[in-house]
Order: sequence, then C-alpha cells, then structure tokens
Amino acid sequence: MKINTNFGNIAENYLFSTVASKLAAFQKEHPEREIVKLSVGDVTRPLAPVVIAAMHRAVEDLAHAETFKGYGPDRYSYGYPELLDAIRSSYARKGVEVKREEVFISDGAKSDLGNLLDLFSAENVVLVPDPVYPAYVDANTMAGRKILYADANRENVFLPLPEEGVHADLIYICSPNNPTGAVYDRAGLKAWVDYAKREHALILFDAAYEYFISDPALPRSIFEIEGARDCAVEICSFSKTAGFTGVRCGYTVVPDTLCFDGFSLNRMWARRQATKFNGASYIPQMGAAAVFSEEGEEEIRANIAYYKENARIIGDCLDGLGIWYTGGKNSPYIWLKCPNDMKSWEFFDALLEKAGVVGTPGSGFGKNGEGYFRLTAFGTKENTEKACRRIEAFCRG
Ligand code: MLT
Repeated sequence: MKINTNFGNIAENYLFSTVASKLAAFQKEHPEREIVKLSVGDVTRPLAPVVIAAMHRAVEDLAHAETFKGYGPDRYSYGYPELLDAIRSSYARKGVEVKREEVFISDGAKSDLGNLLDLFSAENVVLVPDPVYPAYVDANTMAGRKILYADANRENVFLPLPEEGVHADLIYICSPNNPTGAVYDRAGLKAWVDYAKREHALILFDAAYEYFISDPALPRSIFEIEGARDCAVEICSFSKTAGFTGVRCGYTVVPDTLCFDGFSLNRMWARRQATKFNGASYIPQMGAAAVFSEEGEEEIRANIAYYKENARIIGDCLDGLGIWYTGGKNSPYIWLKCPNDMKSWEFFDALLEKAGVVGTPGSGFGKNGEGYFRLTAFGTKENTEKACRRIEAFCRG
C-alpha cells in the first residue's frame, strides 16, 4: 500500500482547529477569563420558526407508515421535489433559470467544494485568490494539484481580476468573499467568466454568503452573468443563509450546458453522486425547502439583518479607531488591518490575552493575509458589543 503523501504538504491542522486549540490552551491556563469568540463563522440565531415547523412535520412523516421515507427520490441528485423547486424559485427571483436536473442537494457547501474535484484530473492547474478560504487549498493539495494564487490586496480592494498570460483550469471564486467580505460587481465577475471561457477553464463559484448582499446592483449568482452556464458551477449553502451550520444542507448547480472533452459535467457529477452519496437527509431537506417560501425568506432575512447590525457595530468601532477594514456591508465578515502594523498571530495573541477576544488571523488564509485579521458578525449582539468595547480599550490603552 502506498499512502497519499500529498497530505504531507498541508498544514498539520485545519486553520479553525488551530485557532480552537490555541483558545482551549489559553482557557485551561486562565479558567477565570471570559472570552468573546468572533473567530469561526458559526451562526448563533435559532432557526426560523417556519423551518422548525417544516422539520417537525418531516419528523411526523417519518413516524407513520403511509408517509415514511427511506432513501431519497430515485434521481441522481437525491433531492426532494419540494426542495428542488424551492431552490429554482429562489433562482427565478434573481432572474436565473435553473432546471430541476441541474440542482444537486448536498450536506453543505464545503463537501461539494472538495468532492467536485473527483471530476478533474490531478494535472489541472488551480487558481485561487490569496487570501482564500483554506478548504479550497487543502482539498487541492491533498489531490496533488498545482495551485496558483491571484493576489488580493488593499490596492485591488481584495478583488483580484484575471491576469493575462496566466493559465488555469479550475478557478475558485467566493463572492461575498470569505475571509475578506469583498464582493465582486457584475464587471468583475464578467471578467472572470470571459477569462474562464478563453482558457477553457471551469469556475467553482462559492455563493455561501449571497444572502448577505443587500445592494441590488451586486450579483448574487454567477449565473446572472452572461456566458456563465458554459464555464461555471455554483456551490450554495443553507448554513449562513438560514443558520444550518449544525443542521447540514446545501446545493450545487451544475448546468447541463457544461461540456469538456466531450464529457457532460452534469452527467459526471450525477454519476459520481450516485456512487458516493445517498443524499442529504429528509428532515433538513424539508426545513430547507421552507427557507425559500415567502414566510421563510422574511424570517431568515430578519436573522441576516441581525448579523448585519453586528457588522455595522464592528465597522463603527473600527471607524472610531481609524482602523482600515473591508467587508461587513454585504457580508458577515470584517477584514481589518491589524493596528500598529502587528502581524496577524501577534494581534491574535495580544487581543486574546489583553482583551479576551478571539478572531481569525489573516495569515491563516494565505500570505497576503499577513498583517490582517478577520472578525465575524455571526455572534450575538451582546457579545459583539462587548468585543467592540474591549477592542477599543485595547487599542486606546
Ligand atoms: C469560516 O469561519 O470561515 C466558516 O465558518 C468556515 C465554513 O463555512 O466552513
């Protein structure tokens, strides 16, 4: 047996595990200290009532022989029609037409962002922005792919555009971006679509945070851009949209127009899923279907407004301190320059020790993240305000 030695090329721990173990070590040493966590982007609001009601009904279905469900529907995507149609109607509201057969239900975006790689040769060159959500880099490093980085920095407001003369086969784009909170406009996404088509490349578009976009001029789906159906798949999640981080449900749209070397990516993905996946479970799927009902949209928007108010509170705090940041307007993440030119981990340690606040060091997302820091708006309002008071005292002290 030969081991996949590519695992030797990734960091020993996943970024958020490193942050969690640093915090656990600190708390062991200082059990009396009360820590405010604005690090991992995990939600704190309870599920919307309409989702809870739908999941209760789904549990009841499973309690009776007449309505009991075993394996999901006998379709490649293993999605229930109620959910597939709810997703299609959510797309229709963005002016995007998606067929039932193009929607694949998953247990969340992260799984598909890695699993989709089964369809592509290890020889493909991958292009990711730097800084970047670490799962893209880790998944491709595990498979031994060459990774190129598109520099995101203050000059391009963390929204890099394709560079002439650079070839890539697979391109990851996340907008609104994790970790920077930056959001591409139509022209920016169009530049990537045109580039992908020129290079015969595929865009893996991570739309996990699309519901945080409130500016109607900003695109929420890559499929709002002309030509994207020929060069992009879109990976979506109910985690941040509807607080499903613990429930687990997501979806991926693979257009039936995507064809490479005579292979239909839609057919390949369906075949892959039929072999390796038996679908997301019934109860979360029914809860997810309720998210896109009229009532559901209203209720989840109230939760999103709550988080965006947290983002505003953090933004006001940073403005008051004269600290540069991006994100937080159409995104739950605030990406800030560490004060006094501190390095990311240096600021992490100082903020934890002196202020009892945990964030995520920017350098954990790539070399261009050095000197930056990410705060999440997914905490409670009370904790967000507390963290801001402590950050102010720390910076002014
Ligand atoms: C984050 O904090 O970056 C996210 O929670 C990670 C994720 O969604 O997997």
